[in-house]
Amino acid sequence: MSLAIYHDAWDLDLAICPCDQHFLDWIAARELRGARIFHFGTGNHHLVGRRSAEDGRGNLVLGITASPREHESYVNLVIDRPELGRTYKVLFGDIYQLEPRLLPEFDVVTLFHLGEFRSEKNAAYGAMTDGELAELLLEKLVPGGWLLFYTGSFAYDVAAAIADRLEARGRLHPAGTFATLRLCRKPV
Ligand SMILES: C[S@@+](CC[C@H](N)C(=O)[O-])C[C@H]1O[C@@H](n2cnc3c(N)ncnc32)[C@H](O)[C@@H]1O
Repeated sequence: MSLAIYHDAWDLDLAICPCDQHFLDWIAARELRGARIFHFGTGNHHLVGRRSAEDGRGNLVLGITASPREHESYVNLVIDRPELGRTYKVLFGDIYQLEPRLLPEFDVVTLFHLGEFRSEKNAAYGAMTDGELAELLLEKLVPGGWLLFYTGSFAYDVAAAIADRLEARGRLHPAGTFATLRLCRKPV
């Protein structure tokens, strides 16, 4: 048994997967500033962390990747551009093993790839389910914080069922859509 890693290194492909760009567009449209963001799936491009470090809005990004090559590209990025590394941090690991006691609180959490990668490989070492992961990160959101889903995901049926259930229980409020993103907020 070994860690359920992501074997690829995902380069930016807006035609196939525009969620990170849509997220940045949403940040710009809302004029979001000083937000603490948890981002599921950095990609090899690190678009969310890079742009957030460059756009002057002061948003802080903690990303996670299960790709050794994406993590290596992050290491090289911050060696080459140390100014990015102050506000953009990347964890390597299986998101389904997040430990809540080691996490701070967040203003925004992206779960764009919820349901895409959870399999029996994660279950073999007792990792969380998709539903448990969503609950954990919801606990880490401040009241009024945002939980965002990607409606273009190939596993959006899984993510939507989880979001619907959390909304039905009053744990999340629906907050509309933006491009391909479904927006939810934690009640105040
Ligand atoms: C298809 S890529 C998408 C990257 C980026 N969000 C985009 O849309 O361009 C999927 C991302 O999810 C990450 N990922 C897959 N399984 C994961 C897991 N179990 N834990 C953490 N990250 C994971 C991969 O490392 C990769 O960064």
